[in-house]
Amino acid sequence: MSIIEVRDLSLAYEDGPAVLDGISFTAEEGEALVFAGLSGSGKTTLCSCLCGILPRSEPVAFSGSVTVDCTDIPGTPLYECAQHIAMVFQNPDDQLVCSAVEDELAFGLENLCVPPDEIRRRVDAMMAEFGLSGMAESDPAKLSGGQKKLVTIASTLILGPKVIVLDEPMTGLDADSRELVLRAVERLKERGCTVVAVEHDLSLASYADRILYLRDGKLNDNP
Ligand SMILES: Nc1ncnc2c1ncn2[C@@H]1O[C@H](COP(=O)(O)OP(=O)(O)O)[C@@H](O)[C@H]1O
Ligand SMILES: [Mg+2]
Repeated sequence: MSIIEVRDLSLAYEDGPAVLDGISFTAEEGEALVFAGLSGSGKTTLCSCLCGILPRSEPVAFSGSVTVDCTDIPGTPLYECAQHIAMVFQNPDDQLVCSAVEDELAFGLENLCVPPDEIRRRVDAMMAEFGLSGMAESDPAKLSGGQKKLVTIASTLILGPKVIVLDEPMTGLDADSRELVLRAVERLKERGCTVVAVEHDLSLASYADRILYLRDGKLNDNP
C-alpha cells in the first residue's frame, strides 16, 4: 500500500462550488510530491484534507477517502492523525504558540514526553541546522516573515514525521533561507520521509520527484 492514498476526493465549502472535484493520487514512501496551482486553486484546502483539519474544522461537503500510513484520516482523531502526518502552515502566525524560538522547537517534543536532555540536544541541533542559534530566546512573533517560516518548518521537522505537508514553504523566504529549506527537504528524503508541498512559484520546487497541477478542482500531469 502506498503511504498516501487519496481516492475521489471532493470538497465544497458551505454554499460554494466544488474546490476539489474528484481528486485521486498516491505517493510512495520517501517521495517528494509538489502540487502547483494558482492562488485560489485549492492548494491549502488539499493540504488541510491530507492532515485531517478538513472536513472536521468547517461545515463542508466532503466525499472520498484519504489514507495516510494505513490510517483513515477523516475517521481518526486529529491528535492521532498528527502522529502520521505533520503540516507546516502557509501563514506562520497560525502555527507559532511560544514566546521564545527554542521553546517553539521544544513544544511538540514536550507534548510527546521526550526526555528533557534529548529535547535540548535535538533543539540545539535543529537551531544550528536552520541558522536560528543566535535567536534562541527571541520572541517568534517579532521575527521577520522569513525567519518565522524557518521556525515553523524547524519545529515541525524536529518531530521526525513520516509524512510532512508544506503549504508554500518557500513563499516569503530570501535566497539563503530557501537554500536552508531545500537542504532540509533533501535530508528528510534521505531519511525516507515523504514530502508533499504545494507551491505557487514552481521555480523553487527543485526538490520535487513529481509535480502535479491543480486546476478547476482537478489534478493534471501538465500545467
Ligand atoms: N474557509 C473557507 N470558507 C469558504 N471558502 C473558502 C475557505 N477557504 C478557502 N475557500 C475558497 O476555496 C478556494 C480555494 O482556496 P485555497 O484552498 O485557500 O486555495 P490556494 O491555497 O490554492 O490559494 C478559494 O476560492 C477560496 O476562496
Ligand atoms: Mg494557500
